[in-house]
Amino acid sequence: MDRLVRECPPLDTNSRYLYLLMCHHHASTCAAVRDDDGRMIGMVTAYKPPAEPNTLFVWQMAVAPQGRGQSLARKMVQGILERPGNRDIQHIQATVSPSNTASRRVFESLAKHLNTTLTVDPLFEAEHFGGAEHEPENRFSLGPFTP
Ligand SMILES: CC(C)(COP(=O)(O)OP(=O)(O)OC[C@H]1O[C@@H](n2cnc3c(N)ncnc32)[C@H](O)[C@@H]1OP(=O)(O)O)[C@@H](O)C(=O)NCCC(=O)NCCS
Repeated sequence: MDRLVRECPPLDTNSRYLYLLMCHHHASTCAAVRDDDGRMIGMVTAYKPPAEPNTLFVWQMAVAPQGRGQSLARKMVQGILERPGNRDIQHIQATVSPSNTASRRVFESLAKHLNTTLTVDPLFEAEHFGGAEHEPENRFSLGPFTP
């Protein structure tokens, strides 16, 4: 996961320990795709916020350049929603930086396939990240939907 994220700018890199925690505590809301050689070429890390258990918060999506354009990102999120333990999820949230067209398009496509609406509002400003080096992050909210 750490390697794939490093191959997929502009994603923020994080500690390997954080990825272990996502796999240990939130495996039911994360997904990965491997190629025929077993190499991970796609991943989605997500969790249910404790105060909003019927929401899936999508934290990071990464698809290696050779895997893009095959709906892998969208299908990984839809696959998470289809798991028996996740049938209670009726909303998706994520944050997207204004320049990240690919990410925005994935959520627009998800809203279309889930037959629901997408709203966007400001959440984190650049100063929340400690300076001007990080873009703001807008909140994307999809739902309600029935998986
Ligand atoms: C964002 C990312 C995960 C998308 O992966 P992907 O598997 O290629 O996306 P999908 O094939 O599922 O695309 C879903 C939709 O978004 C559109 N889309 C995806 N990338 C796009 C791009 N660069 N420009 C325009 N549209 C794009 C697709 O055309 C598709 O639209 P459709 O369903 O209407 O046909 C991948 O580009 C990536 O890893 N980028 C770098 C890391 C990143 O920015 N992650 C997101 C922030 S967490």
